Amino acid sequence: MNQTLRHVAIIMDGNGRWAKKQQQARTFGHFHGVDKVREIAIAANEVGLEVLTLYAFSTENWKRPIEEVNYLMQLPAVFFSKFLSELMEKNIRIQTIGDLAPFPEATKTVLVNAISSTAANTGMTLVFAMNYGGRDELVRAAKAYAEDVRDGKRTNSITEVEFEHYLMTRDYPPVDLCIRTSGEQRLSNFLLWQLAYAELVFTPLAWPELTAKEFVELLNEGSRRERRFGGLV
Ligand code: FPP
Repeated sequence: MNQTLRHVAIIMDGNGRWAKKQQQARTFGHFHGVDKVREIAIAANEVGLEVLTLYAFSTENWKRPIEEVNYLMQLPAVFFSKFLSELMEKNIRIQTIGDLAPFPEATKTVLVNAISSTAANTGMTLVFAMNYGGRDELVRAAKAYAEDVRDGKRTNSITEVEFEHYLMTRDYPPVDLCIRTSGEQRLSNFLLWQLAYAELVFTPLAWPELTAKEFVELLNEGSRRERRFGGLV
Protein backbone atom coordinates (compact mmCIF):
# COMPACT_ATOMS: atom_id res chain seq x y z
CA MET A 1 0.00 0.00 0.00
CA ASN A 2 1.40 3.39 -0.98
CA GLN A 3 -0.07 5.32 1.88
CA THR A 4 -0.68 3.76 5.25
CA LEU A 5 -4.33 3.20 6.01
CA ARG A 6 -5.19 3.32 9.68
CA HIS A 7 -8.98 3.36 9.76
CA VAL A 8 -11.25 1.85 7.12
CA ALA A 9 -15.06 1.88 7.19
CA ILE A 10 -17.35 -0.42 5.22
CA ILE A 11 -20.98 -0.13 4.17
CA MET A 12 -21.84 -3.83 3.90
CA ASP A 13 -24.53 -3.68 1.26
CA GLY A 14 -26.25 -6.14 -1.06
CA ASN A 15 -27.04 -9.10 1.20
CA GLY A 16 -30.71 -9.06 0.23
CA ARG A 17 -30.16 -8.76 -3.53
CA TRP A 18 -27.47 -11.44 -3.46
CA ALA A 19 -29.88 -13.84 -1.72
CA LYS A 20 -32.73 -13.00 -4.10
CA LYS A 21 -30.56 -13.78 -7.13
CA GLN A 22 -30.34 -17.29 -5.73
CA GLN A 23 -34.10 -17.49 -5.07
CA GLN A 24 -33.42 -17.35 -1.34
CA ALA A 25 -34.91 -15.23 1.46
CA ARG A 26 -33.10 -11.97 2.30
CA THR A 27 -32.09 -13.47 5.64
CA PHE A 28 -30.00 -16.05 3.76
CA GLY A 29 -27.87 -13.12 2.56
CA HIS A 30 -27.47 -11.75 6.10
CA PHE A 31 -26.52 -15.22 7.35
CA HIS A 32 -23.70 -15.40 4.79
CA GLY A 33 -22.85 -11.78 5.55
CA VAL A 34 -21.94 -12.81 9.09
CA ASP A 35 -19.24 -15.23 7.88
CA LYS A 36 -17.98 -12.49 5.58
CA VAL A 37 -17.52 -10.17 8.56
CA ARG A 38 -15.10 -12.73 10.01
CA GLU A 39 -13.16 -13.15 6.74
CA ILE A 40 -12.78 -9.42 6.11
CA ALA A 41 -11.96 -8.58 9.73
CA ILE A 42 -9.19 -11.19 9.81
CA ALA A 43 -7.79 -9.85 6.51
CA ALA A 44 -7.95 -6.26 7.81
CA ASN A 45 -6.08 -7.29 10.95
CA GLU A 46 -3.46 -9.08 8.88
CA VAL A 47 -2.71 -6.03 6.71
CA GLY A 48 -2.27 -3.98 9.87
CA LEU A 49 -5.34 -1.72 9.98
CA GLU A 50 -5.80 -0.12 13.39
CA VAL A 51 -9.57 0.18 13.09
CA LEU A 52 -12.23 -1.41 10.88
CA THR A 53 -15.71 0.08 11.29
CA LEU A 54 -18.65 -1.89 9.85
CA TYR A 55 -22.13 -0.49 9.26
CA ALA A 56 -24.12 -3.40 10.68
CA PHE A 57 -27.47 -1.77 11.57
CA SER A 58 -28.51 1.79 10.79
CA THR A 59 -31.03 4.01 12.55
CA GLU A 60 -33.14 3.58 9.39
CA ASN A 61 -33.03 -0.24 9.43
CA TRP A 62 -35.87 -0.31 12.01
CA LYS A 63 -38.19 0.44 9.06
CA ARG A 64 -37.61 -3.04 7.59
CA PRO A 65 -40.22 -5.77 8.09
CA ILE A 66 -40.28 -6.95 11.71
CA GLU A 67 -39.16 -10.48 10.75
CA GLU A 68 -36.02 -9.09 9.12
CA VAL A 69 -35.31 -6.73 12.03
CA ASN A 70 -35.66 -9.66 14.45
CA TYR A 71 -33.30 -11.71 12.33
CA LEU A 72 -30.71 -8.91 12.28
CA MET A 73 -31.02 -8.58 16.07
CA GLN A 74 -29.73 -12.08 16.64
CA LEU A 75 -26.76 -11.82 14.26
CA PRO A 76 -24.35 -10.59 16.95
CA ALA A 77 -25.11 -13.79 18.94
CA VAL A 78 -24.51 -15.90 15.82
CA PHE A 79 -21.31 -14.05 15.03
CA PHE A 80 -19.74 -14.09 18.48
CA SER A 81 -20.73 -17.67 19.31
CA LYS A 82 -18.93 -18.76 16.14
CA PHE A 83 -15.96 -16.43 16.12
CA LEU A 84 -15.21 -14.84 19.50
CA SER A 85 -12.47 -17.35 20.33
CA GLU A 86 -10.78 -16.71 16.97
CA LEU A 87 -10.99 -12.95 17.48
CA MET A 88 -9.35 -13.42 20.88
CA GLU A 89 -6.55 -15.51 19.30
CA LYS A 90 -5.99 -12.76 16.75
CA ASN A 91 -5.88 -10.14 19.53
CA ILE A 92 -8.81 -8.20 17.96
CA ARG A 93 -10.73 -5.77 20.17
CA ILE A 94 -14.50 -5.31 19.74
CA GLN A 95 -16.27 -1.97 20.13
CA THR A 96 -19.58 -0.49 19.03
CA ILE A 97 -20.83 2.93 18.00
CA GLY A 98 -24.52 3.83 17.99
CA ASP A 99 -27.23 3.65 20.63
CA LEU A 100 -27.64 0.09 21.89
CA ALA A 101 -30.51 1.04 24.25
CA PRO A 102 -33.40 -0.02 21.95
CA PHE A 103 -31.93 -3.47 21.24
CA PRO A 104 -33.33 -6.59 22.91
CA GLU A 105 -31.57 -7.46 26.20
CA ALA A 106 -30.07 -10.63 24.71
CA THR A 107 -28.45 -8.67 21.85
CA LYS A 108 -27.08 -6.05 24.23
CA THR A 109 -25.67 -8.74 26.54
CA VAL A 110 -23.85 -10.45 23.67
CA LEU A 111 -22.33 -7.16 22.50
CA VAL A 112 -21.36 -6.00 26.00
CA ASN A 113 -19.74 -9.40 26.70
CA ALA A 114 -17.77 -9.26 23.43
CA ILE A 115 -16.60 -5.73 24.25
CA SER A 116 -15.53 -6.64 27.79
CA SER A 117 -13.86 -9.95 26.94
CA THR A 118 -11.76 -8.32 24.19
CA ALA A 119 -11.10 -5.04 26.03
CA ALA A 120 -7.45 -5.84 26.77
CA ASN A 121 -6.64 -6.96 23.20
CA THR A 122 -4.07 -4.77 21.51
CA GLY A 123 -4.51 -5.70 17.82
CA MET A 124 -7.04 -4.19 15.44
CA THR A 125 -10.22 -2.65 16.82
CA LEU A 126 -13.34 -3.98 15.08
CA VAL A 127 -16.15 -1.47 15.51
CA PHE A 128 -19.75 -2.46 14.79
CA ALA A 129 -21.97 0.51 14.01
CA MET A 130 -25.25 -0.69 15.52
CA ASN A 131 -28.35 1.51 15.54
CA TYR A 132 -25.96 4.13 14.22
CA GLY A 133 -26.83 7.12 12.06
CA GLY A 134 -24.52 10.00 11.16
CA ARG A 135 -27.18 12.65 11.71
CA ASP A 136 -28.18 11.09 15.04
CA GLU A 137 -24.52 11.16 16.10
CA LEU A 138 -24.20 14.85 15.18
CA VAL A 139 -27.40 15.81 17.01
CA ARG A 140 -26.26 13.92 20.11
CA ALA A 141 -22.86 15.66 19.91
CA ALA A 142 -24.52 19.08 19.59
CA LYS A 143 -26.76 18.35 22.61
CA ALA A 144 -23.81 17.15 24.73
CA TYR A 145 -21.85 20.26 23.81
CA ALA A 146 -24.82 22.52 24.63
CA GLU A 147 -25.13 20.81 28.03
CA ASP A 148 -21.43 21.37 28.72
CA VAL A 149 -21.84 25.07 27.90
CA ARG A 150 -24.93 25.26 30.14
CA ASP A 151 -23.01 23.57 32.97
CA GLY A 152 -20.09 25.94 32.60
CA LYS A 153 -17.68 23.22 31.46
CA ARG A 154 -17.08 24.91 28.11
CA THR A 155 -17.37 28.33 26.56
CA ASN A 156 -19.69 28.82 23.62
CA SER A 157 -16.89 28.74 21.10
CA ILE A 158 -15.68 25.42 19.79
CA THR A 159 -13.18 24.25 17.19
CA GLU A 160 -13.59 21.30 14.82
CA VAL A 161 -11.01 19.33 16.79
CA GLU A 162 -12.85 20.00 20.06
CA PHE A 163 -16.17 19.04 18.47
CA GLU A 164 -14.72 15.66 17.49
CA HIS A 165 -14.46 14.81 21.20
CA TYR A 166 -18.27 14.66 21.22
CA LEU A 167 -18.45 12.12 18.39
CA MET A 168 -18.79 8.37 18.92
CA THR A 169 -15.51 7.84 17.04
CA ARG A 170 -13.54 10.10 19.42
CA ASP A 171 -11.12 7.31 20.39
CA TYR A 172 -10.22 6.24 16.86
CA PRO A 173 -7.90 7.68 14.21
CA PRO A 174 -9.55 9.57 11.31
CA VAL A 175 -11.30 7.43 8.70
CA ASP A 176 -9.00 7.17 5.66
CA LEU A 177 -11.20 5.11 3.37
CA CYS A 178 -14.81 4.01 3.07
CA ILE A 179 -15.76 1.00 0.95
CA ARG A 180 -19.33 0.30 -0.15
CA THR A 181 -20.28 -3.02 -1.69
CA SER A 182 -23.01 -3.88 -4.22
CA GLY A 183 -22.68 -0.98 -6.64
CA GLU A 184 -24.63 1.73 -4.79
CA GLN A 185 -22.78 5.02 -4.49
CA ARG A 186 -24.21 6.82 -1.46
CA LEU A 187 -23.25 7.33 2.18
CA SER A 188 -26.67 6.35 3.59
CA ASN A 189 -26.13 8.38 6.77
CA PHE A 190 -22.84 6.64 7.63
CA LEU A 191 -20.06 8.61 9.41
CA LEU A 192 -21.11 11.91 7.84
CA TRP A 193 -18.55 14.02 9.71
CA GLN A 194 -15.75 11.44 9.52
CA LEU A 195 -16.01 10.85 5.76
CA ALA A 196 -15.56 14.53 4.87
CA TYR A 197 -12.04 13.88 3.56
CA ALA A 198 -12.00 10.09 3.29
CA GLU A 199 -11.46 8.28 0.02
CA LEU A 200 -14.57 6.47 -1.23
CA VAL A 201 -14.24 3.18 -3.08
CA PHE A 202 -17.15 1.27 -4.57
CA THR A 203 -17.34 -2.32 -5.76
CA PRO A 204 -20.16 -3.99 -7.68
CA LEU A 205 -19.74 -7.13 -5.57
CA ALA A 206 -22.41 -7.79 -2.96
CA TRP A 207 -21.13 -8.09 0.62
CA PRO A 208 -21.37 -11.91 0.71
CA GLU A 209 -19.38 -12.08 -2.57
CA LEU A 210 -16.43 -9.95 -1.47
CA THR A 211 -13.27 -11.98 -0.82
CA ALA A 212 -10.27 -11.12 1.34
CA LYS A 213 -8.18 -10.79 -1.84
CA GLU A 214 -10.62 -8.31 -3.42
CA PHE A 215 -10.85 -6.44 -0.14
CA VAL A 216 -7.06 -5.97 -0.11
CA GLU A 217 -7.25 -4.76 -3.75
CA LEU A 218 -9.85 -2.16 -2.72
CA LEU A 219 -7.57 -1.06 0.12
CA ASN A 220 -4.74 -0.69 -2.38
CA GLU A 221 -6.96 1.34 -4.71
CA GLY A 222 -7.90 3.66 -1.85
CA SER A 223 -4.39 4.07 -0.54
CA ARG A 224 -2.93 4.86 -4.00
CA ARG A 225 -5.09 7.94 -4.31
CA GLU A 226 -3.52 11.22 -3.41
CA ARG A 227 -5.33 12.99 -0.61
CA ARG A 228 -4.89 16.72 -0.63
CA PHE A 229 -7.47 17.78 1.98
CA GLY A 230 -8.46 20.74 -0.18
CA GLY A 231 -4.88 21.96 -0.63
CA LEU A 232 -2.62 21.71 -3.66
CA VAL A 233 0.17 19.42 -2.51
C1 FPP B 1 -27.27 -4.38 3.93
O1 FPP B 1 -27.71 -5.26 2.94
C2 FPP B 1 -26.90 -5.13 5.11
C3 FPP B 1 -27.46 -4.99 6.34
C4 FPP B 1 -28.51 -4.01 6.67
C5 FPP B 1 -27.05 -5.84 7.45
C6 FPP B 1 -25.60 -6.07 7.45
C7 FPP B 1 -25.25 -7.02 8.49
C8 FPP B 1 -24.35 -7.99 8.32
C9 FPP B 1 -23.64 -8.22 7.06
C10 FPP B 1 -23.98 -8.90 9.41
C11 FPP B 1 -23.67 -8.12 10.66
C12 FPP B 1 -22.98 -8.92 11.60
C13 FPP B 1 -22.93 -8.66 12.91
C14 FPP B 1 -22.02 -9.46 13.73
C15 FPP B 1 -23.73 -7.63 13.56
P1 FPP B 1 -29.19 -5.12 2.43
O2 FPP B 1 -30.05 -6.03 3.23
O3 FPP B 1 -29.59 -3.69 2.47
O4 FPP B 1 -29.06 -5.63 0.97
P2 FPP B 1 -29.92 -5.10 -0.28
O5 FPP B 1 -29.46 -3.70 -0.52
O6 FPP B 1 -29.51 -6.04 -1.35
O7 FPP B 1 -31.35 -5.20 0.09
